[in-house]
Amino acid sequence: MAVYEHDVLVIGAGLAGMRAAIAAQEMGADVAMISKVHPVRSHSNAAQGGINGPGVGEDGGPWEEHAFETTKASDYLGDQDAIEILAKEGGREVLQTEHWGVVYSRKEDGRMAVRRFGGMGKARTFFVGAITGQAILHVLYEQLMKPAIHNAMRNYEEWFVTSLIVDDGQCRGCVAMNIRTGELHAITAKATVIATGGLGRVYEPSTNALICTGDGISLAYRAGAPIMDMEMVQIHPTTLKGSGVLITEGARGEGAYLLNKDGERFMEKYAPNLMELASRDVVSRAEQMEIDEGRGVDDCVFLDMRHLGEKLIRERLEEIYEIARDLVNIDIATELLPIRPGVHYIMGGVKTDIDGVTPMPGLYSAGEAACVSVHGANRVGANSLLDTLVFGRRAAEHAVPWIQGQKFRPIPESVVERDRAMIQGVLNRGMNGDRIARIRRDMGESMNTNVGMFRHPDKLNAQLENLRQLRARYDKVGVEDKGKVFNTDILFHIELGYMLDCAEMITKSAIERKESRGAHTRLDYPNRDDENWLKHIVLTKQPDGSEKMSYLPVTITQWQPQERKY
Ligand code: FUM
Repeated sequence: MAVYEHDVLVIGAGLAGMRAAIAAQEMGADVAMISKVHPVRSHSNAAQGGINGPGVGEDGGPWEEHAFETTKASDYLGDQDAIEILAKEGGREVLQTEHWGVVYSRKEDGRMAVRRFGGMGKARTFFVGAITGQAILHVLYEQLMKPAIHNAMRNYEEWFVTSLIVDDGQCRGCVAMNIRTGELHAITAKATVIATGGLGRVYEPSTNALICTGDGISLAYRAGAPIMDMEMVQIHPTTLKGSGVLITEGARGEGAYLLNKDGERFMEKYAPNLMELASRDVVSRAEQMEIDEGRGVDDCVFLDMRHLGEKLIRERLEEIYEIARDLVNIDIATELLPIRPGVHYIMGGVKTDIDGVTPMPGLYSAGEAACVSVHGANRVGANSLLDTLVFGRRAAEHAVPWIQGQKFRPIPESVVERDRAMIQGVLNRGMNGDRIARIRRDMGESMNTNVGMFRHPDKLNAQLENLRQLRARYDKVGVEDKGKVFNTDILFHIELGYMLDCAEMITKSAIERKESRGAHTRLDYPNRDDENWLKHIVLTKQPDGSEKMSYLPVTITQWQPQERKY
């Protein structure tokens, strides 16, 4: 077993991870970044429509407006101290990416263009066509490739984390597999930042990449760190019929309409002011109601972009044009695009404070894996990229001073041996009449059916029982590939364990929250209940393996909860 030592270990190499790594490196720390895929294959790549830029010139608008709109969209579950930081510091991060080389789409006069996103009072979202995440991700990777950083930093590319190392209540790095060799190693660190992204693949279908399996959230949970707001799963209004591929909100930002089968712009009934650009939860629910009441076609409604004209579509929504053409053979310049609401984002995650600090010393988190919480019960579109940059940087800025005076401790071989034995156990098993892929599909589809948009206690409780059965199947199933080199069978097996943890946390929290707020709609409790539920639900695994559910108050700085209207 090799043991590696670093000041700061960043787990995950999407935008939050890369931003944390750059900041820690700039502060002089010995940094390592570990990722199960090559960094530019991270899911941040898939963010399409833009990044909000509060405070960036006139278009970004005053930070207070952005903070209020974020708070309102969160259905007042977002912590307002964190939201204020997002809004105050976000503009600086957007400009930083521009200075590093992100080629934002421009207006005629050369200034950065903006489009309007849902729940926003004005257009304040900066963008790169419909590949904003990809553009920023590649530019951040370029920063990491600069010799001054690259030569000083260790990049564990295609390494897979199997557990966090916790000693004396403190996180001291992780155990990870070099996927190329199949060998397990201890990577010790004074500070560890979980930036592993979301868990969208707990549901099928989902807009998320296949790699979004909740690894960091589950790793933190198993290590004893608190996990918050897991019932808050965002459903995006426009995902492609069948595959569930994201069709950016930027399309509606550019003026696209939503139509039902009768050609009616149905959002008039649900959100007469903002229409298609109401908050995501509101638009998704409206679509589902249209479909459920028989005004959809094949579980879909339609996105109408025909009036935007081919020129604008090809300039600003080229990737959507291609997705529609390549995946469903539709020309969006002349035809309606069938879309449906689909799982997109987890607002909950590893509970942190405004500096990415978790209650476990040495453990930090940022980005979608974390719950700061700036998104509360419903995230504003184009705030996820902003969140990754602001809180990725802040986590590093807090971690680096904190590690001064911290010492490495020897890591006993038994820490690695435990994970090795777990893997060997799986390799020794037969298939027992089942397959990982089948269990994964059954989990995803049943989560969609039972813990999706409209939640009923009978279905939620049935899903908890389903998950118990899926866990029993999981504990028995083996893998076909018994080799060591690039054994993706083993990785999928471990990922499924992470996903089952997350699915259980989502379902239990959804059962617990007896009200409707943001993305969480309980059919038996249709109203928001601030008196009893203006609080976060927190799940923490106890040392004896049991689970504790607790509550935390929502931080309110200046915006008292009001009725939400769009
Ligand atoms: O619709 C979109 O482009 C998604 C953006 C986001 O989730 O922030």
